Amino acid sequence: MNSEVIQLVQHSWAKVTPIASQAAALFYRNLFTLDPSLKSLFQGDMEEQGKRLMEMIGTAVQKLDNLETVVPVLRSLGKRHVRYGVKEEHYQTVGTALLTTLAQGLGEHFTPQVKEAWTLVYGVMADVMMKAAYHNA
Ligand code: HEM
Repeated sequence: MNSEVIQLVQHSWAKVTPIASQAAALFYRNLFTLDPSLKSLFQGDMEEQGKRLMEMIGTAVQKLDNLETVVPVLRSLGKRHVRYGVKEEHYQTVGTALLTTLAQGLGEHFTPQVKEAWTLVYGVMADVMMKAAYHNA
């Protein structure tokens, strides 16, 4: 992950944080449109859940230039997700929902470069979580 990718992701995320609660709501709407069956996995208060999701993405985004510090956090997050009933293939759907949400939230700032940078960053995060959760790695 090079410094251009990191900058693109950090700068675009800074534009999302002021509208974090709307973005979280939008994210779940996109996710459940893509796969309504995922609704049943979410037991808790969706507003609270949305906040935690945004905080976790924010934490990882802040630490992109020092990713090894977040890797253990992502690994245990991935393992906890197995208990929430999350399957490996769901990560693809969540990634699509996230990118759609960013496109809606960022509008003209969602350039092809920003899209590519987020695809890479989400891919890395999801990979760490999935490897820990399903491949004992
Ligand atoms: C980079 C990817 C992801 C991040 C950063 C993330 C983040 C989080 C966080 C911070 C929580 C709060 C609970 C905890 O800390 O254990 C959580 C819970 C949860 N996540 Fe994720 N998540 C990701 C991927 C996914 C995927 C692929 C699914 C599949 C649908 C999913 C479904 C859930 C569910 C069902 C819960 C529990 C909700 C409840 O208790 O009602 N997440 N996630």
